[in-house]
Amino acid sequence: MNNNNEIIEYYNNIAEDYDCSRFENSYGKYVDRQERIVLDKLNINRQNALDLPCGTGRLLNYADYGCDASENMLKVAKSHWKEKHLTCRDARNLPYEDETFDTVITMHFLMHLDKTTTFEIAKEIHRVLRPGGRWIMDLPSLKRRRLTNKKNNGWHGSNSMNAVDVKHLLSNHFYINSTHGIMLFPIHRIPSVLRKPLCKLDYHLSQVAGIKEWSSYIIYELWKS
Ligand SMILES: C[S@@+](CC[C@H](N)C(=O)[O-])C[C@H]1O[C@@H](n2cnc3c(N)ncnc32)[C@H](O)[C@@H]1O
Repeated sequence: MNNNNEIIEYYNNIAEDYDCSRFENSYGKYVDRQERIVLDKLNINRQNALDLPCGTGRLLNYADYGCDASENMLKVAKSHWKEKHLTCRDARNLPYEDETFDTVITMHFLMHLDKTTTFEIAKEIHRVLRPGGRWIMDLPSLKRRRLTNKKNNGWHGSNSMNAVDVKHLLSNHFYINSTHGIMLFPIHRIPSVLRKPLCKLDYHLSQVAGIKEWSSYIIYELWKS
């Protein structure tokens, strides 16, 4: 992975502060809430699900298995989730047998990778999924990025795609079953007291075809082909 050691090192260094700095403020809580509305709707059976990468375990209530390449992120996850099966390993070389899981959840990860690495990891996820298994992952919306003219410095959040790119990249391995927008409103510009009440409306608008593509992120529900 060209810049992956740098990414892992970054998360190793911020692991202890990650939950607090990313998800304790009103913006982080908003994103987390919206993602959970979608994940709840997708009815994941956690017993056969892998959270990859699980980071500090934010979403491990959806999966009994977690894997992450950062020892420090995993240490935090282990302190929260003693009963889960958590492993430190690179996502390109997963320590699981072929066809082990019904679902793999990949959140806030592919946005940091280049397309070659994304494809490599997709193939590994395809390998560990059972026939008919699902890959639930998110990516920044390319349409939204173009609209807001958002520029990224370095690897952080630098990957964005639209559904056509995803189809093109993954066509031999997965097909798109459903897509769900996350954060249509420019929530960072809205006063924090108004954010919570807007969450449900934002969620509903972010599910409407023709509108959802303009959301900040898209969660893809992909089926193994
Ligand atoms: C932004 S965090 C996301 C964590 C979690 N999915 C979430 O949504 O809170 C990105 C994670 O990717 C992990 N990571 C980076 N490169 C990896 C790789 N090649 N294999 C496995 N994990 C990796 C980092 O250690 C970090 O924990």
